[in-house]
Amino acid sequence: MKILGIETSCDETAAAVVEETADPARPWQIRSNIVASQIDIHREWGGVVPELSARQHVRDICGVVERALQDAGITHAGYDAVAVTQGPGLVGSLLVGVSFAKSLAWSAGVPLVPVHHLAGHIESLVLQNGEMPLPAVVLVVSGGHTSLYRVDAPGTYELMGRTRDDAAGEAYDKVAKLLGLGYPGGPIVDRLASGGDDGAIPFPKTRLTHADRNAPHLPGTRDFSFSGLKTSVLRHVTRRREALGVGSNGALPQREVADICASFQRVVVETLLDRLFEAARACGANSVGIAGGVSANSRLRAEVESRAAGRDLPVFIPSLALSTDNAAMIAAAGLRRFRAGHTADWRLNADASLALT
Ligand code: KG4
Ligand code: ZN
Repeated sequence: MKILGIETSCDETAAAVVEETADPARPWQIRSNIVASQIDIHREWGGVVPELSARQHVRDICGVVERALQDAGITHAGYDAVAVTQGPGLVGSLLVGVSFAKSLAWSAGVPLVPVHHLAGHIESLVLQNGEMPLPAVVLVVSGGHTSLYRVDAPGTYELMGRTRDDAAGEAYDKVAKLLGLGYPGGPIVDRLASGGDDGAIPFPKTRLTHADRNAPHLPGTRDFSFSGLKTSVLRHVTRRREALGVGSNGALPQREVADICASFQRVVVETLLDRLFEAARACGANSVGIAGGVSANSRLRAEVESRAAGRDLPVFIPSLALSTDNAAMIAAAGLRRFRAGHTADWRLNADASLALT
C-alpha cells in the first residue's frame, strides 16, 4: 500500500509518498519526500507571517505534489490513500493542505486520513529507525511545541508534561532575534554556540514544582518554561549594550555573542534532557525519542546519546531531513492511523488547536 502525505501547517509546503513494507520492525519506506520552504519569504519579517504563508502554500502545492508523485514513479492512480495534517498550526495554511488533500482523495476515489502534526513528528522516529521498544517517552520539541508523551502502544500518546509558555524553538528564535542574528534562530544559535563558553553566563534553569491551574490533570512537575530564560538573556544583552554604549539594538562583540548562545543553549538542552530522563525513569521506559525541529540541535543530539549510553537506554532521533517539517512523517502517521481504522469524510476541516489523543 502507498500513501500520499501532505503537510502545510506552517511555513513548509510538503508532499511525500510512503509505502508499507512487509517488515513489522520497519513498517514504512519513503518513496519520495519534497519540501518547499518559505523561509526566504518570512525572513524579511523576522518570523512567519500567517497570511503570506497561506498564500505561498496555494502557489506551491500543485508543483510539490506533482514532484512527489514523479519522484515516487507513480501517477494519481498510484496511491491508495491521502494523509493530511489536520492541525495544529496556522489555520489558513492548514486549510490549503486539507482542501487539496480532500480534492485529490475524492477524484482518485481513495480514503482521506487526517493526521495530527505532532503524531507525524513522533512517527519520524519510526520512519528513521524502525519501531521503538515500548513503553517509550518521546520529547516533541519544535517552534510551536515542547511536550513529553508516553507511548504505551503504537499510535497512542499520553501527555506527561508540556511548556507553560514559550516552546524551546520559539525561545531560540526570540534569542536570535534579540541578538540581531536572523531567522530562523535555532540553527544560527546552534552554530555560534559551538565557538562559545557555555559556562560564561549563569542563565537560570526553571524548575516547576506545582500543578498548572490550566492543566490540573497533569502533575506539572514535568512541565517546561522558557520565558524566564528568554527574559534573562534580554536583561543580560541590554546591560551589556549599555555598558559598551552600542545603542539599544547595537551589535555585541562576536566572542560575547558566542558565549551568550552557548550559555543559553546549555540551559535549554539540560532542561529538556533532565525532564525527558526523569519521565523515562518514572514510567520504566524501554526507549526515549526526540522529535521536532529542535531535535536537529547538535548539542541536544550529542548529549542525549551520552546520557542514554550511561543508562543503557536506546535513543531514537530522526535524520536532519526528517527532524523539521516534512510530509513523509505525515504519510507514515497516516498509514498507522489508516491501519487503525481512522479515515475522514468530506466534511473534514482544519483545526488550528487540534489535541493529540
Ligand atoms: O518542527 P519545525 O520544523 O516546525 C514546527 O512545527 O514548529 O521546528 C522549527 C523550529 C524553529 O523554532 C527552529 O528555530 C528550530 O526548530 N530549530 C532548531 C534547530 N534547527 C531548527 N533549534 C535549535 N537548534 C537547531 N539546530
Ligand atoms: Zn513541526
